[in-house]
Amino acid sequence: MCADKTATLSLNGQTYDLPILSPTMGPDVVDIRKLYDEADIFTYDPGFTSTAACKSAITYIDGDKGQLLYRGYPIDQLAKESSHLEVCFLLLYGELPTADQLEDFRNRVTRHTMVHEQMHYFFRGFRRDSHPMATMVGVVGAMSAFYHDSLDINDPWQREVAAIRMIAKLPTIAAMAYKYSVGQPFVYPKNSLSYAGNFLNMCFAVPAEDYVVNPILEKALDRIMMLHADHEQNASTSTVRLAGSSGANPFACIAAGIACLWGPAHGGANQACLEMLREIGTVDRIPEYIARAKDKNSGFRLMGFGHRVYKNFDPRATVMKESADEVLELLGSHNNPTLQVAKELERIALSDDYFISKKLYPNVDFYSGIILEAMGFPTAMFTPIFAISRTVGWISQWKEMITDAGKIGRPRQLYIGPTQRDYVDVKDR
Ligand code: SDX
Repeated sequence: MCADKTATLSLNGQTYDLPILSPTMGPDVVDIRKLYDEADIFTYDPGFTSTAACKSAITYIDGDKGQLLYRGYPIDQLAKESSHLEVCFLLLYGELPTADQLEDFRNRVTRHTMVHEQMHYFFRGFRRDSHPMATMVGVVGAMSAFYHDSLDINDPWQREVAAIRMIAKLPTIAAMAYKYSVGQPFVYPKNSLSYAGNFLNMCFAVPAEDYVVNPILEKALDRIMMLHADHEQNASTSTVRLAGSSGANPFACIAAGIACLWGPAHGGANQACLEMLREIGTVDRIPEYIARAKDKNSGFRLMGFGHRVYKNFDPRATVMKESADEVLELLGSHNNPTLQVAKELERIALSDDYFISKKLYPNVDFYSGIILEAMGFPTAMFTPIFAISRTVGWISQWKEMITDAGKIGRPRQLYIGPTQRDYVDVKDR
């Protein structure tokens, strides 16, 4: 990252030279860190549409090309050739593991999948009909009340243990939230199962009979996890970074990320999208919903469509669509009405000037719910599965931020409130 160019700002008869920093890929950035001190002026960018909030070597996105790289590797190659745990290693440590490294990593994660037995009692405090994301925010945050030996963010070993614990325990906590919501007993992790297989078992096994992991679902779920693992400086990752910049412990930071992901404009869109597709119901009702999405006054948006960065196809949606076709075919539900509505909705929307002009394409959330529904998950579990998958991305970005030893994140504002005025006693108001 070098600064061999400058941008010149002319302001009130003064000129200011601002260094231009060049990345390995993507647009240059104007370094404005000294701007306020030198020119007594802020920049204004609510929503951060033009702001690089940090430097990172983890994930690269080119929205115009529809390109997504994890540590330089294209997402479509990883989705085809890799596994979620191998992608976790890649995101955390920067390189693909050797066979021995992967085996060691798999063993370390596997041996951290159980949660402290006393954490079971937390669930009793929630209503059975609580949204699993509400439970996860609470229980993941409470991990800082249990794992005191991995709270010191300045100790590299404790950071490592916290990372492994969260990658390992998030599936267990999400499965417990699901079991609690359906009134079934918790199922303990089984070390003989894969990461995705273990989650399926913890969700769908019951004491009354043996549960056999379906390899089709296991592979599809592992692929879904890879596709959601990281995504540059999205809202929830930025939340984790901001929380981490205050020195908060890693469990609290991840709980903050889960809370942010829950929103329907972000990770909650997979649930909202499937509910929208179900509400549309049949392809003949699609034009009505397209019209509503185009009507500014309707307040309605096509869930699973559009993206802040992708102004071309979201490469994850492309892989997800292929996976939906494959999984539903293998499960014998290739005529799934929701999938037919989704495909027709995509076809119609992508030929409509409104969506073309605004460069709105299906995003990662458009097809994922169809696969998850076919696996037997209720819609309320879609975002928790996104959270499980994104945990490695949040933790990797958090570790990168900690080792960068940056400043606490503290944006300023464009103040538009009252100028100073004196207090008026209530009798004179
Ligand atoms: C994720 O950031 C990430 O990387 C996120 C994510 C990740 O992996 O972490 O990729 C995961 O969150 C995917 C996005 C899931 N959300 C949805 O599917 C919800 C529906 N989509 C939108 O709400 C919207 O597209 C956003 C939130 C995703 C992006 O919003 P932006 O970038 O702030 O864009 P915008 O709201 O300013 O919209 C631009 C225009 C607007 O019209 P104009 O004001 O220009 O007239 O496009 C319109 C919007 O009204 N628009 C839509 C639309 N999305 C944008 N119109 C109809 N339907 C939509 N889905």
